[in-house]
Amino acid sequence: MQSKNKRARRKLLVIEDDPGLQAQLKWAYEDFDVIIAGDRAAALTALRAEEPAVVTLDLGLPPDPDGTSEGFAVLDAIVELKPDTKIIVASGHGARESALSAIERGAYDFYAKPVDIDELGLIVRRAFELHAIETENARLSERVGKDQTVLGGLITAAPEMLTVARTIERVANTNVSVMLLGASGTGKELLARGVHDASPRADGEFVAINCAAIPESLLESELFGHEKGAFTGAVKTTPGKIEQADGGTLFLDEVGDIPLPLQVKLLRFLQERTIERIGGRRALAVDTRIVCATHQDLEAMIADGRFREDLFYRLAEIVIRIPALKERAGDPPLLAKAFLTRFAVEMNPQVKGFAPDALAAIEAWEWPGNVRELENRVKRAVIMADGRLITAVDLDLASDGAEDDQPLNLKAAREQVDRLVIRRALARSDGNISGTARLLGISRPTLYDLMKQYDLTP
Ligand SMILES: Nc1ncnc2c1ncn2[C@@H]1O[C@H](COP(=O)(O)OP(=O)(O)OP(=O)(O)O)[C@@H](O)[C@H]1O
Ligand SMILES: [Mg+2]
Repeated sequence: MQSKNKRARRKLLVIEDDPGLQAQLKWAYEDFDVIIAGDRAAALTALRAEEPAVVTLDLGLPPDPDGTSEGFAVLDAIVELKPDTKIIVASGHGARESALSAIERGAYDFYAKPVDIDELGLIVRRAFELHAIETENARLSERVGKDQTVLGGLITAAPEMLTVARTIERVANTNVSVMLLGASGTGKELLARGVHDASPRADGEFVAINCAAIPESLLESELFGHEKGAFTGAVKTTPGKIEQADGGTLFLDEVGDIPLPLQVKLLRFLQERTIERIGGRRALAVDTRIVCATHQDLEAMIADGRFREDLFYRLAEIVIRIPALKERAGDPPLLAKAFLTRFAVEMNPQVKGFAPDALAAIEAWEWPGNVRELENRVKRAVIMADGRLITAVDLDLASDGAEDDQPLNLKAAREQVDRLVIRRALARSDGNISGTARLLGISRPTLYDLMKQYDLTP
């Protein structure tokens, strides 16, 4: 019990040669685990043994108690040894200059002597907080960098997803057709590509077709192609997606949306592995691997005759269920960090990580839109962030008061959201009306009207 408590306490290393001050500081910070060192050797030993997150450093140390040379030497040594340590430098009278150059050399902050215990306490506490955030962010980055990237772009640390990835790697070598079942945004397309990339067909084409996005009347021609003159508008012979995927992989996305007549034709292709273009007379052999996906309940569709059972069994030689993001322990913050790093480089390099409230919100949110939603929220937050750390507000995940405060009246609810969004947009554009209107996608007169209505001022 005792040792556990001790381990959890925050370690503060005080490097100070004045015995009076040593005692005073030790006494003042009894909620920290204070370690005292009076010279360079003692300081470095303590640094190695205790790994304190925060250090206060008096620059005037023996053998140069009236100068700064020894203090700077200690500073350099700590920065070299443990660069994540937050070092707070004490500046004596008229030593502001040296405090500033200490910061240039890697110190985190400085305080002026004589020591004001409360003021120094604040600086120390802030340093601990920042250190904790940076440690958490660094830990996440490290995890992202290492073995969490499998199958090309897939990032995960969750056992359920690692099982999915392993299954995919195993089936990739074969020609069996794979059905991916998962809610929207769970990574079905990414995994379909994973199947292709891990297969011996990787040099061939990966051809994706979203069966829900193409009008029924065009879907057949998209899949099977057509000969010149096959129908009005067929001005030249065009191969279909199936043919394009010869030697590669065909990804049938939203396969549950294929109308019944076309299901028959697709089944024939899967049985015979040949196609005929619309208006064509020749059977063309096509060698392709089929991967399909849907968010629909195909079993229910089979039960009421909207999906052919025989087609289902051809498509679903292997079925892989992709868990929702919420069910992947540890993945939301891991993915969030990966997306942050990616988008920050592209769009806003000053952004370095997540504030604690943002991490808590990421853990707590249900992620109904899964990875796609997470990606979008982080992207928008990176673009909008003002500071180095993304907050829950930037992610649009700040809970505004308790559930009970939420109005049930639709008009009141809309007003509340309008106010919130307008205030946020005003803040983002520093009160500039044109900028705010642009952010909100409304005209300036409309914005003026709304601000008047809600009694808002820039
Ligand atoms: N585990 C993951 N690691 C990294 N990126 C991911 C992961 N899962 C999904 N993504 C990314 O999230 C986005 C959504 O993934 P994808 O398009 O594969 O999902 P989907 O299941 O096909 O979604 P929808 O049902 O909306 O079509 C993509 O940008 C994808 O690259
Ligand atoms: Mg998709």
